[in-house]
Amino acid sequence: MSTHQTPLPSAAGRGRARQDAIYRPGALGVTPTVPTDMARLESRAQSVMSRRAWAYIAGGAGSGATMRANRAAFDRWQVVPRMLHATTERDLRTTVLGTELAAPLLLAPVGAAGLVAQDADLHIAEGAHASGIPYVFSCQGCSPMEATARAMAGTPFWYQLYWSTDEQLVDSMIGRAEAAGAQALVVTLDTTMLGWRTQDLDLGSLPFARGEGIAQYTSDPRFMQLVRERLGAGARAAQSLGIDPRRPLRAARAAKGGVGTLLSMSRTHPGGVRDNLRSPEPRAAVETFLDIYSNPGLSWEHIATLRERTSLPVVLKGVLHEDDARRAFDAGVDAVVVSNHGGRQVDRSIAALDALVRVRQAVGPDPTVLMDSGVRSGADLFVALALGADACLLGRPHVYGLALDGAAGVSAVIDNVLGELDLTMGLVGAASIADITRDLLVQA
Ligand SMILES: Cc1cc2nc3c(=O)[nH]c(=O)nc-3n(C[C@H](O)[C@H](O)[C@H](O)COP(=O)(O)O)c2cc1C
Repeated sequence: MSTHQTPLPSAAGRGRARQDAIYRPGALGVTPTVPTDMARLESRAQSVMSRRAWAYIAGGAGSGATMRANRAAFDRWQVVPRMLHATTERDLRTTVLGTELAAPLLLAPVGAAGLVAQDADLHIAEGAHASGIPYVFSCQGCSPMEATARAMAGTPFWYQLYWSTDEQLVDSMIGRAEAAGAQALVVTLDTTMLGWRTQDLDLGSLPFARGEGIAQYTSDPRFMQLVRERLGAGARAAQSLGIDPRRPLRAARAAKGGVGTLLSMSRTHPGGVRDNLRSPEPRAAVETFLDIYSNPGLSWEHIATLRERTSLPVVLKGVLHEDDARRAFDAGVDAVVVSNHGGRQVDRSIAALDALVRVRQAVGPDPTVLMDSGVRSGADLFVALALGADACLLGRPHVYGLALDGAAGVSAVIDNVLGELDLTMGLVGAASIADITRDLLVQA
């Protein structure tokens, strides 16, 4: 396992530094492009995003009850600040799975962020790097992981995997993540199928069907081998039916919305747009992806094979039941992420923060437990850490920052969250992450 020395921002006051960076221009009438208030951040981001993008990023499963539960769970905890503790300096550093972090925060994997901005993953990586925070690259990324790794410029990153039905593709992606320098492999368990996402359904919008968010696949040699095999078989079938498979544009014109989809596929597929427009390959890539991208048959037996398949620390994301957490550690995984995928998978699911409390109690103080789903602020981060998280993943908010101001917007969102964490620690009397303990909270 490799370790990495993260460059530290000046420890004495991430919060004060952030306030200064906002109040000084404020004295000249300049207000922040990226609001610090989360409700305003969301509504401003919505105003610059397309309907399809907003549905995909902000939307959840079913009625949205899990998303509301995620937030309500935070509201059930209150911080009890201590006084006269002379906490003049705070140290936000911590170590997770051998990676030294500037703060207990990573950016969550978010697929199809290209709906929000071109080269989204690269800009998110630049923003993460600027703030010294690791990024967990999504398997549904919009740039190949190798390019995103370069954009991280030395700041640590992890790779998130969706377990394909093609085992050779699983190995290929793990090998690429290792070669690119990922410091951990995050296997997401909760999306063996897409949840019932009403906002997307009502727009009939699935980004992947337009080629958005499949760049890890179209840059993969094993995946492209499958696409070529499909094309070979498809061409034979089409010829026998008297259809010309080399005329995708003609076929697309025949369908309402077909040209837009074909254009989108041709833009996102490797190679030139003009050539792609005439080629059946982009469409075959989408169809191959839809067939194999995730495995509803995923089981503990698959997880047991990972030790032989990678030397990276293995993290299981999407654990909610304490028995699953216990079993994961018994099976030798290195960490779990308690998460309900931001309420995007199972409607009326347990809130992630409530699950965190149960999981931490079940596994004891030592195993590495991360958490996401509903974290919106430095105060939220403080509460999750006090309830036993070793670190949290920040999901939607960083995408809203991206929508508003590109890489700088991502960095601003991170700096706002960590600025508030730092001030909360200083005001409450926690000089280090280890000082953020359960006795600083009460139930509301
Ligand atoms: C638009 C979007 C795309 C996502 N894509 C992925 C993904 O590709 N892989 C994954 O493991 N989780 C994915 N997630 C889940 C996030 O990693 C994280 O668990 C979630 O955003 C946490 O909820 P929150 O953003 O409400 O805090 C996605 C979440 C969103 C909002």
